[in-house]
Amino acid sequence: MEVVIVPDAKAGGELIAEAIAALLSRKPDALLGVATGSTPLPIYQALAAKVRSGAVDASRARICQLDEYVGLPAGHPESYRSVVLREVVEPLGLSEASFMGPDGSAEDVLAACQAYDKALAEAGGVDLQLLGIGTDGHIGFNEPCSSLASRTRIKTLTEQTRVDNARFFDNDITQVPHHVITQGIGTILESRHPILLATGEGKADAVAQTVEGPVASIVPASALQLHPHATVVVDEAAASKLKLADYFRATYAAKPLWQGL
Ligand code: F6R
Repeated sequence: MEVVIVPDAKAGGELIAEAIAALLSRKPDALLGVATGSTPLPIYQALAAKVRSGAVDASRARICQLDEYVGLPAGHPESYRSVVLREVVEPLGLSEASFMGPDGSAEDVLAACQAYDKALAEAGGVDLQLLGIGTDGHIGFNEPCSSLASRTRIKTLTEQTRVDNARFFDNDITQVPHHVITQGIGTILESRHPILLATGEGKADAVAQTVEGPVASIVPASALQLHPHATVVVDEAAASKLKLADYFRATYAAKPLWQGL
């Protein structure tokens, strides 16, 4: 996988927004998979700024969700549907029709998971999948020991993830759902270009294990090593435990600009 070390979160957001812009100029109706949480916000802000300035035409872009809480009503401000509409779809000037996600309030959750996995394939597959990483190494909500071949399904969040996410629920862990629907690791690996952004010291261990450790389900993000075109963008703090940091810096510095990410 390619590892790009950037000075800070803003620079990471700019770099990835550039990659999305390049994709949209090649394929205006690209299907863009989006993550939620704090990390990708600089990407969405940078991309929205490009759209506002006219540098990028995102009018035909299609957006799909990576995961969703189970049991929150769709209109709940912290349902990932609401978050993606607020942080991505609206700022890019898109309509809800350009957006797809799993139904976290479905009565038949299993059927909703299977339907979403199928819908992604029928939409032509995800062209570029944005990912964050949990402090426990999860991608999407594939918690440690998720099958590396998993498809979209229901998962139970670890206590650590619920603690990490309590900040979105008035710091009240009792409000954080226990269950989620998440694209599986196998589903994520079918995306044409997964790009993981990690920022801050709290992610340094997970990043080091993802990039330099063995492929192992205990660190779900390490499955990205199996993808022929996976990119990991990290700020200096998140890169601080990488043994090969200097090599990654030198490699990127010598990369021809035309290659992009
Ligand atoms: C969210 C998601 C999660 C987050 C991860 C990091 O859609 O899939 O994997 O990316 O929990 O969250 P933040 O960015 O808030 O640290």
